[in-house]
Amino acid sequence: MKKDYILPSLDSARKRARAASRKVVFTLDDKYRGLGEGKTYHIVTHGCQANQRDSETMAGLLEDMGYRYTGEQKQADVILINTCAVRQGAEEKVLGEIGAMKRLKKNNPDLIIGIGGCMAQEEETVKTIMEKYRQVDIIFGTHNITSLPKLLYEVCQTRERKVEVFSGMGEIIESVPATRFMSHKAWVNIMYGCDKFCTYCIVPYTRGKERSRDRGDILFEIEELVRQGYKEVCLLGQNVNAYGKDVSAEYGFAQLLEDVAKTGIPRIRFMTSHPWDFNEDMIRAIRNNPNIMPYIHLPLQSGNTGILKKMNRRYTRETYLELYDRLKEELPGYAFTTDIIVGFPNESDEAFADTLSAVDHCQFDNAFTFIYSPRAGTPAATFEDPIPREVKEQRLQLLNEKVAFYANKNNRRFKDQTVEVLVDGLSKRNSDVWSGYTPENKLVNFTGKNVKTGDLVKVRITEVMSFSLNGELIEE
Ligand code: SAH
Ligand code: SF4
Ligand code: F3S
Repeated sequence: MKKDYILPSLDSARKRARAASRKVVFTLDDKYRGLGEGKTYHIVTHGCQANQRDSETMAGLLEDMGYRYTGEQKQADVILINTCAVRQGAEEKVLGEIGAMKRLKKNNPDLIIGIGGCMAQEEETVKTIMEKYRQVDIIFGTHNITSLPKLLYEVCQTRERKVEVFSGMGEIIESVPATRFMSHKAWVNIMYGCDKFCTYCIVPYTRGKERSRDRGDILFEIEELVRQGYKEVCLLGQNVNAYGKDVSAEYGFAQLLEDVAKTGIPRIRFMTSHPWDFNEDMIRAIRNNPNIMPYIHLPLQSGNTGILKKMNRRYTRETYLELYDRLKEELPGYAFTTDIIVGFPNESDEAFADTLSAVDHCQFDNAFTFIYSPRAGTPAATFEDPIPREVKEQRLQLLNEKVAFYANKNNRRFKDQTVEVLVDGLSKRNSDVWSGYTPENKLVNFTGKNVKTGDLVKVRITEVMSFSLNGELIEE
């Protein structure tokens, strides 16, 4: 079958150049304004915080075109799915979701369905969607979000399917409208992309080169959030510690943290710190600024040096534990979480035992654990992997039990303590109960009156579970 669209290329996406990234200032062409007048949109978001933030940008663009949000897919004129490609399971879920949308399209032939995010960057996925999922009208890549108005306009005009996915290193685009989904907590991109190329990971291919936003643009955004009454910012990047390295030797993540702290925003978080370039200046900045929250996510991935080497993680078991012990000592009372992959190709029983013993050493507050999932186009996908699936599943279960044990142990220190909670809203499970997070990023469910989303309140902890705390509001 002849293709009338250009497929993305993971091979081209692998390329990196030394040159600084181009900054582009976005403006919406007047011809797209009003196109969505009287119409509605819905967005489904999968994957990490980078995707959450991208969905806010998609929403902002659509709203500037006149579209209004609806929570009901059935009523929407445009549905966008912002996808994640990090594991096979995530992809299958999305394909199932797109499959189910065939019915919606049947009931409303004018419905426009767009697929964006990391799956759109994969050539095989785009081919599959174009051939087997005819209900999809638009495929747009992570570097093509600002083309959404143009693509929607073209589909409305011609009713032809459109694919726009760039596989290059990516630019930095500023002044793009965005509609924040929360009014008290905000995601703030400080950098895009990833140059680490861990051998199992698709992200460097789907997100392009590591590129830092200008500090002026970041600080301006956060000062504006402070003016609007936001209580918390989470600084986002695949490797926030590498912030600035692509542009300047003097101004890095530590300096940015100091400047963000000076904006006076009550709570600052950041995601994700790679153990590779965690330096002394960063530790000092974190320790010296009370509005930087006492919580660090430090992905371990494996506790075995041989596996870490095959993962291209750039640290050994020993250097990770050394950094971890130093952080624990210099940042007392902080909570630490991690990411761990089990069943990496050819992970032996001994190698897995090293991961378990590293968890015993670190006693993390929590860990996000995954079974390795081969991603086409990454080096690890070609590694021999004789370990049976059942063994990997058993390992995951063993690991999860250990993680829960330490999560519970760490939480016990909060029993009968008073903690500060930033209120997210009513609990998802019980509408008489409020929920929010402590500075250490512990989920708290609590009872109390005269509370609202965005309040910073004091709660006495009455009950401790492995992954959450229960409590009562302390009225002041
Ligand atoms: N930039 C972040 C991670 C982003 S992906 C970092 O380096 O820490 C989030 C997590 O997904 C990773 O930390 C890893 O544990 C997991 N992950 C990534 N690729 C995976 C794969 N192919 N199979 C299983 N888990 C994977
Ligand atoms: Fe993936 Fe590694 Fe980059 Fe994290 S640092 S996004 S795991 S390649
Ligand atoms: Fe998934 Fe892409 Fe984030 S692969 S984890 S949505 S960067």
